[in-house]
Amino acid sequence: MLFKKKSKLKNKTASTTPTTTSLDKAHIRTQPIPRHVAIILDGNGRWAQERGKPRMFGHQEGMINVKHVAAVASKMGIEAMTLYAFSTENWKRAADEVAFLMKLPIRFFDEFAPVLMELNIKMEIIGKKSELPKELQKAIMRIEEMTGGNTGMRLMIALNYGSQDEIISMVAQVATKVKTGQMNIDDITSTVIEDHLLTAGLPPVDLMIRTSGERRISNFLLWQIAYSELYFTDTAWPDFKEDALYEAVAEFQRRDRRFGGIK
Ligand code: FPP
Repeated sequence: MLFKKKSKLKNKTASTTPTTTSLDKAHIRTQPIPRHVAIILDGNGRWAQERGKPRMFGHQEGMINVKHVAAVASKMGIEAMTLYAFSTENWKRAADEVAFLMKLPIRFFDEFAPVLMELNIKMEIIGKKSELPKELQKAIMRIEEMTGGNTGMRLMIALNYGSQDEIISMVAQVATKVKTGQMNIDDITSTVIEDHLLTAGLPPVDLMIRTSGERRISNFLLWQIAYSELYFTDTAWPDFKEDALYEAVAEFQRRDRRFGGIK
């Protein structure tokens, strides 16, 4: 039922985009931009409830905002963006909410496909795809195939993703290679480990953002954020618009990144 309100919601989102002028976006774009930004999309449910709406309304607004923020990120020059849309732990939620969250990406892929092509964005889904509903698996295959040749920003959507599961799978793959003689134990380096994670080939996560006030990582990209700058904001995901992303990037640019060394 919520899906029928599509165009109205779109207009609402566009009209509520902040127009702050104090941010010098042109200057921010001339400074080092994080190559890979990961975002924990939190706060949709609370955002909706604060407005007297069902939680699903918040997820729908959250989905619309993913389209907005991904386009901004691509234009800003971010090389890769990984978004946490459904964790391996989210199956514990009420059945109707889970069902809604399983349908939402299908609509998202359909609506966003023309923009992805126009912006040259390559979309990939990470997580245990085989456990997702068949209809969603088919939609994932379609969007990955359609955008597979795009050479611009890589947009990774984490669906049924859990970092500990990802690490277990990586260990099993590497152990199998050692057991079958394809690799020696001494060959195991951080590069080998990264090559067996779902983010293989992506730049390291430079900036990890979590919206909506919580200050935890919730089993997201545990290996990959070893040297990420962490950015927590009280803004709920549906309100995290262009200016909010620029503010996070500006804060990243102010940080002194030493990677364990001394300047
Ligand atoms: C976590 O907190 C958020 C989720 C489990 C869902 C996030 C999903 C979206 C933003 C939609 C994205 C869709 C696509 C296809 C990319 P919560 O929102 O349940 O918030 P709460 O902590 O306020 O309850």
